[in-house]
Amino acid sequence: MEADSAVVEDGPSLVPLPYSGRRILRKRDMRGGPRSLFDREGPLALEIGFGDGRFLVELARLHPDWNLVGVEISLASVSRAFRRMHREGVDHVRLYRGHGRMVVRDFLDAGSLRRIYVNFPDPWPRRNQLSYRLLQPGFFRMAANRLAPGGDLMLTTDHAEYFEFARGSAEASGIFEESVLPSPPETLRTKYALKWQDQQRPIYHAVFTPTERPSPPARETHIEDMQHALLDGDLSAVRQVAKYVRRFEGGTVIVMEAYRSLTDDGLMFEVVVEEADLRQELLIKAWAKQDGVFVGLQPFGDPMGTRGCREAVHAVTDVLKTHGLTVRQAWI
Ligand SMILES: C[S@@+](CC[C@H](N)C(=O)[O-])C[C@H]1O[C@@H](n2cnc3c(N)ncnc32)[C@H](O)[C@@H]1O
Repeated sequence: MEADSAVVEDGPSLVPLPYSGRRILRKRDMRGGPRSLFDREGPLALEIGFGDGRFLVELARLHPDWNLVGVEISLASVSRAFRRMHREGVDHVRLYRGHGRMVVRDFLDAGSLRRIYVNFPDPWPRRNQLSYRLLQPGFFRMAANRLAPGGDLMLTTDHAEYFEFARGSAEASGIFEESVLPSPPETLRTKYALKWQDQQRPIYHAVFTPTERPSPPARETHIEDMQHALLDGDLSAVRQVAKYVRRFEGGTVIVMEAYRSLTDDGLMFEVVVEEADLRQELLIKAWAKQDGVFVGLQPFGDPMGTRGCREAVHAVTDVLKTHGLTVRQAWI
């Protein structure tokens, strides 16, 4: 393992880290495309929902010439996996905290991927949760654009109903062939694979191969810096905030609670945004400046700059209006 001069604190001792280990990737790292993150050429593979990261370690050892990107939505899991990468000393693995569908849609180029792995995806079993499932026909169409010739998507799951759902989605996309096969041994050693095998559950595995490359999906424009509003009025007049719901086409914003900031007179609003298969918890701050009260999205948690973020700023602005503030200008 080659180390450069980066040094971070990792547990009790200071450990020199290779480039890949400097930090968990953020959106700005992804903008140049995953290839820009590696210091070498090589087949690129993506694992969506890597959990504790043990599969990525196996994969790095199985394919030492591959460049691996893992995406995982849970911050706690990403941190755990990040520490694992260091412990195990694997290079050429990059970890991103975010949404698998967005990585495929917004940060990958056509024909750039050798393989997408999805191991034991969250099944979202209830009828009203089906839209949260990752492997929808639309996802298969995006994936078909991102996969290189000969590339594929490998699914392993214990959930018979999700397995059939994914097969149905691939078929509905109209551009995939499937092979239902025994699971390769490495997919049977993930945390969830071991858990379900312990409980004697059957495991299902399929490889989906695109038969054509459709046109690229439209990328979402990330507009984090523009979600602000400027209001006139007095923030100290806001004493109590009731829960507030704002619905928009494609989602819902719920303003849950507000706190007075410890460092200034600002108010911090905890907001939940639900859009298609994305749920984000955001912090929206309102703070008084000389020329008015600003309302804006806080970068905490590296939020994904979707329409829901704009709507969250709107929702907080709506709440403040009920307390007598008025909107002078909105960049949302
Ligand atoms: C059941 S766990 C499986 C974890 C791991 N693959 C394994 O086999 O042990 C599903 C994982 O997918 C993650 N996840 C769910 N939806 C996701 C999404 N849209 N993008 C990225 N990760 C996601 C969850 O946070 C969770 O860690």
